[in-house]
Amino acid sequence: EKIVLAYSGGLDTSVIIPWLKEHYDAEVIAVCGDVGQGKETEGLEEKALKTGASKLYIADLTEEFITDAIYPCIKANAVYEGKYLLGTSMARPIIAKKLVEIAKKEGATAICHGATGKGNDQVRFELTIKALAPDLKIIAPWRLDTWGMESREDELAYLEAHGIPFEAGHDNSYSRDRNIWHLSHEGLELEDPANEPNYKHLLQLGVSPEDAPDVPEYITLDFEAGVPVAVNGEKLGPVEMLKKLNEIGGKNGIGIADICENRVVGMKSRGVYETPGGTILYYAHRELEYLCTDKKTQAFNEVASNKFTELVYSGEWYTPLREALSAYFDKVNETVTGTVKLKLYKGNIIPAGSTSPYSLYNESMASFTTGELYNHKDADGFINLFGLPLKVRAMMMENQKNK
Ligand code: ARG
Ligand code: SIN
Repeated sequence: EKIVLAYSGGLDTSVIIPWLKEHYDAEVIAVCGDVGQGKETEGLEEKALKTGASKLYIADLTEEFITDAIYPCIKANAVYEGKYLLGTSMARPIIAKKLVEIAKKEGATAICHGATGKGNDQVRFELTIKALAPDLKIIAPWRLDTWGMESREDELAYLEAHGIPFEAGHDNSYSRDRNIWHLSHEGLELEDPANEPNYKHLLQLGVSPEDAPDVPEYITLDFEAGVPVAVNGEKLGPVEMLKKLNEIGGKNGIGIADICENRVVGMKSRGVYETPGGTILYYAHRELEYLCTDKKTQAFNEVASNKFTELVYSGEWYTPLREALSAYFDKVNETVTGTVKLKLYKGNIIPAGSTSPYSLYNESMASFTTGELYNHKDADGFINLFGLPLKVRAMMMENQKNK
């Protein structure tokens, strides 16, 4: 029997390998999905084999993550509960899809992951697996009685008892999840929402606004059909562009979000997110929409965006509804093309002018020296009809009063 394991090389997934072999009498195939976590993948194979895996796959999914998950979210302006740019949520289906692919290729019967029973990640991994491979079993050790470990110390003791060498790295720090889009922090002082985050200790992708330069930085972004294609006039591939924007955003203190969010499993949890480049991209994309999207579509985008966001957060990526909404957003982004200039200053993004060949803004119409397309007099009849229900109701109310 073969089991495919979502593997990072951290303590949890390192313990899971011998634990699986002990409890399932199976060969463990470790898979590390690289979505730009910025960690060394060098030495990872040796580590996996030493802890008992029969094989390690390292799958570079960074570009696919950007084009297949991040871009659809930008097109949809997907923001969870007003703050969270969904960095972890977007990545899970991409990783899980790879796990399924390798499980099928290897003829594995199960997929195992190290997410806890309290979080969102378990839901995202498992909904994707169910949607793509209904026959595969799912093993979530943290939810099993046979797991029996509750702390880091328990895990280290387990490894020692099984004679497995493991270099225990850094001590208890924040619980973090990093990829090319974001870095999330949970735990320590953040567990009490009354505490201000210890930003000096916590931030890794950038600085606090007060530590950012005293002079603003201007950048321009070019979009084609809702997708970013160039920064400061330079055409860049998806990975290079995001790296560059992360650097620019990070040094200007952009994209730090502190939120007490509602998890899928019902509890509230407090986290801080660093999404420097992503925050710039979302902002710029919206600026172009303001210029290029007609009134009714823009209003409906908000409605569709809410539903889309909920699906992404909850791991319902591979669903007909999410796919249909993406088709909608692809359509309405066809004209979201142009150039946005932004001023970045101490954590703030300030618009500095946008242009688009699809702009719906008409200067002669909007300015007070009206051109021939718009006749002030037309507003008379329009307001009469538009206001008719108000007038009729007011007349009724007067009649009631006089009775
Ligand atoms: N709360 C965020 C989410 O649900 C981040 C989760 C981070 N995951 C982790 N394994 N540390 O998307
Ligand atoms: C986990 O429990 O695996 C991390 C937290 C989360 O998924 O929200």
